[in-house]
Amino acid sequence: MKIVKSIKEMQEISIALKRKGKIIGFVPTMGYLHEGHLSLIRLAKKKSDIVVVSIFVNPMQFGPKEDFKRYPRDLKRDTKLARKAGCDVLFIPSQKQIYPDRFSAHVNVEKLSDTLEGKFRSGHFKGVTTVVAKLFNIVQPDLAFFGQKDAQQVVIIQKMAQDLNYNLKIIVAPTVREPSGLALSSRNIYLAEDERKTAKVLFESLQKAQSVIEQGETNSFKIIHEMEKMILSKPKTIIDYIAITDSKTLEPLEKLSGEVLISMAVFVGSTRLIDNLKLKVK
Ligand code: PAF
Repeated sequence: MKIVKSIKEMQEISIALKRKGKIIGFVPTMGYLHEGHLSLIRLAKKKSDIVVVSIFVNPMQFGPKEDFKRYPRDLKRDTKLARKAGCDVLFIPSQKQIYPDRFSAHVNVEKLSDTLEGKFRSGHFKGVTTVVAKLFNIVQPDLAFFGQKDAQQVVIIQKMAQDLNYNLKIIVAPTVREPSGLALSSRNIYLAEDERKTAKVLFESLQKAQSVIEQGETNSFKIIHEMEKMILSKPKTIIDYIAITDSKTLEPLEKLSGEVLISMAVFVGSTRLIDNLKLKVK
């Protein structure tokens, strides 16, 4: 596995690979790799000739009161895990490289970035799309891999790629969960032991919603109310939002039909967790 720190070198490698007709699969990450990331790397390995993984904790997608400084980092461990999972090129640019002095261009996907997570994390998705646009230009992937865990991020990046004519395919892999149902996230490390037990209620509430929907319930207000009751019955929980939306437009649905996304952000103690489920409603 090659470790690349310079943007220019990464671009040169990608150009050379493309000239040889190689399919480049790309997994962008912020590091502190877990099984969710590794499943994306393994999938990329199956579908591409060369797998590029980036590690960059992107300051632009963190709000001033968020956890940029304390976000977990362990490059040594990440390097080993990425290599083992099948990464060919590990791209680790510095903050100075990605955002040199007087950096001023941004990519923003309007509307989709302002709803759900966007209402609570102003500027977050603008930071995500700006860095992902840059990474796409640097790595020039044919395939880019993202996890369904960040459902809104996936929808926004797909729209960005479509609207800005990126010549690549976005592949979305299912959320990887602990046996308890808790979705894997680098931020799970912040959870105390009792909080980790509580945190499984997010997925339990999604499963409850699924079963109620399968029994024919289509009133989103009633479903959300059931989910809220379940979550708030657990200690140390605060709900930022639970929403049922169209899976592509992310517009709220009063009556469920078509492909819907049930998504939520919930604080367990001081840790903010997100989770979601995509369902087809008959
Ligand atoms: O999902 C993430 O880890 C990040 O939002 C991403 C896509 C690597 C951009 O910084």
